[in-house]
Amino acid sequence: MRKGEDGLRGRGAAGKRTNVGLRDEIQKRRTFAIISHPDAGKTTLTEKFLLYGGAVQLAGSVTARKTQRATTSDWMELERKRGISVSSTVLQFDYAGATVNLLDTPGHKDFSEDTYRVLTAVDSALMVVDAAKGIESQTRKLFEVCRNRSVPIFCFMNKMDRPTLEPLALLDEIERTLQVHVHPVNWPLGTGFDFKGVYDRQTKEVHLFERLAGGGAFRAPVSIGSISDPFVRERLDPAAYAKVVEEIEILEAAGGRFDRDEVLSGGMIPVFFGSALNNFGVQLVLDAFLKHSAPPGPRMSGDRGIPTDHSAFSGFIFKIQANMDPNHRDRIAFVRICSGKFEREMAVTHSRTGETVRLNSSHKLFGRDRETVDEAYAGDIIGIVGHSEFGVGDTLTTDPGIHYDEIPHFTPEAFLYLSNPNPYKGKRFREGLEQLLQEGVIQELILDSSTQNTRLLAAVGPLQFDVVRFRLESEYGAESRAEPAPWRILRWVSPAVTDDDFRAMTMPMGCQVARTKEGQRVVMFPTDWALDYFVEKNPRIAVSSQPFTSRSVRAAAR
Ligand code: G4P
Repeated sequence: MRKGEDGLRGRGAAGKRTNVGLRDEIQKRRTFAIISHPDAGKTTLTEKFLLYGGAVQLAGSVTARKTQRATTSDWMELERKRGISVSSTVLQFDYAGATVNLLDTPGHKDFSEDTYRVLTAVDSALMVVDAAKGIESQTRKLFEVCRNRSVPIFCFMNKMDRPTLEPLALLDEIERTLQVHVHPVNWPLGTGFDFKGVYDRQTKEVHLFERLAGGGAFRAPVSIGSISDPFVRERLDPAAYAKVVEEIEILEAAGGRFDRDEVLSGGMIPVFFGSALNNFGVQLVLDAFLKHSAPPGPRMSGDRGIPTDHSAFSGFIFKIQANMDPNHRDRIAFVRICSGKFEREMAVTHSRTGETVRLNSSHKLFGRDRETVDEAYAGDIIGIVGHSEFGVGDTLTTDPGIHYDEIPHFTPEAFLYLSNPNPYKGKRFREGLEQLLQEGVIQELILDSSTQNTRLLAAVGPLQFDVVRFRLESEYGAESRAEPAPWRILRWVSPAVTDDDFRAMTMPMGCQVARTKEGQRVVMFPTDWALDYFVEKNPRIAVSSQPFTSRSVRAAAR
């Protein structure tokens, strides 16, 4: 198909014909994130998906990581040094007829801003839980973010090869703490060293796994049979076998069937047991996830749902990352395509400025690697290079009437003064900081005392400041001096509060007023006590723990 003739933007019979192909392409897309508490095994499972998906030949195993070889999805120098994921990456690959867009997210809570934004760009999430620990704090937080955004969740109960909590107790904990139904799609045959396989409740087949030497770098062999087969009985000791049979009977007696609609509406979490490290149950969860998770669905532009097969191309930027590749010091905007078909060099409206821009430099992403992409469809994540005017939340579309809802900032809980100690490198400091601020994972708060050389920064967690300082130095050659700021809590001031009320407010000791770059007022507090006192003394000053969207700001101004 030639450019400009695709019928996607056109109407009539040609448009209808192409729409069928467009729909097929969209239906086979699966765009999801893997979320977890740190150390639950998210990176390991991601690698194994790439191994089973055929995207890599050899999983970057733990042993390899120990020798400092980067895993496929960890690419920043700091990540390598610390062994933690600092920022998210996109991994696109084709597997079993599906085009998979896998968004890997950092697990550490200090990098949650990045994770939260990634969750605006996915259609479903896979939650990895350490079966020895159950639901941990960060899992719960990320679960809530998904639930608030109506993102369906699947669960992989990992590390079954080690001593775990009782499987029934794990399910009960999910139901109790997350207030959601669970449905075990498969059931573990033993735990810890006795973990031999899983029983698939849908096919009623047992999958027995073989442990392989080599840290799980290769696919694990599987034998399949029925629970009553002698070779299955022989692999488990009699007590473990009797326990599994009893547990399966309990589950069947309890009733409850897999209900895809309930899963997709967020009311049910399907649970899979396995061990990412040993490649146990990885293929089962990957296949089931791709089969049952949702293809891309409509997205809201104001009050209007934009169908994925809309004749116009549209997408929004959910992340900006500078200097992903040290060989190309450039800035990449991650775009989630929401409708229609993308074609390289197409002209689109950039919603924030209203300008028409041509998208020449478009890339398919695979961790740190990228290759030029000529076409992409709703559901895909592409990287656009070379537009300094793009910001997080901006819509790009061939229909200027489409304007996706903005991506909310998350409320900072860490604050820091950052200054430039070297008067000869002021320009580098300012420019570097400006670029890192544009990525949106830290915010700048403006005080009356702020200067070009001393800035107040805010982030969801303090490790994010270390990343900023590290990157200022390594990517921009700019030193920085950090000084702690005394606040711990931030509240957004309602845009409905008048200037007169604001001037008349009572400020407890140690509290501070500031503005965001967009002009929103905030108040920072050193303690809960100061916040409570402020609220009590200032009934006319409405504050919120959640930021106000520009829509609510505009509404208040009317
Ligand atoms: P994360 O991205 O969620 O933070 O977790 P990651 O995959 O890095 O895994 C955290 C630790 O858990 C790693 O060990 C990893 O090997 C281990 N792990 C992951 N899946 C399994 C599993 O199925 N069984 C067992 N037994 N361990 C698993 P580590 O010792 O922290 O890593 P390293 O220091 O050896 O690199």
